Amino acid sequence: MKYVAVFVAIAAVVVLQCESKTFKRCELVRELRSQGFPENKLRDWVCLVESESSGNSNKVSKENKNGSRDYGLFQINDKYWCSHTSTAGKDCNVTCAELITDDITKAAKCAKKVFKRHGFNAWYGWKNRCQGTLPDISSC
Ligand SMILES: *[C@@H]1O[C@H](CO)[C@@H](O)[C@H](O)[C@H]1NC(C)=O
Ligand SMILES: *[C@@H]1O[C@H](CO)[C@@H](O)[C@H](O)[C@H]1NC(C)=O
Repeated sequence: MKYVAVFVAIAAVVVLQCESKTFKRCELVRELRSQGFPENKLRDWVCLVESESSGNSNKVSKENKNGSRDYGLFQINDKYWCSHTSTAGKDCNVTCAELITDDITKAAKCAKKVFKRHGFNAWYGWKNRCQGTLPDISSC
């Protein structure tokens, strides 16, 4: 019986970790506004997030060819930006685990840092899909 309880506990933890928050478009707009993303680039950010993660704040990408992975709503790469150690590190001074939480405060701060350094071109999702018509957020 003991083992069953342990198994159930482990299963519960796994399920909880897999539970993910997916932002619908207007929800995303509200969240980005509250994180201080500028109004004149909001449609680009919405497009970027929708193409990179479909609004899923817990998304972890498959391994890229160079062995790195991308984390969270903004699919931020672990090569330079987030660390796998227990303490925060790399250029965003965060752990990759902190980039996949439902609270996107740290991810947003890191995304702004990436943007400041490289602009939207840092994201293939933006480059490939957000240079034409941008999402309509007028009803949000
Ligand atoms: C690794 O590949 C990913 C995705 O292709 C890219 O975003 C990242 O910049 C690459 N990192 C390095 C160090 O080449
Ligand atoms: C990095 O983040 C940690 C906590 O998340 C903080 O204690 C530390 O001061 C930060 N370091 C820098 C250089 O910002």
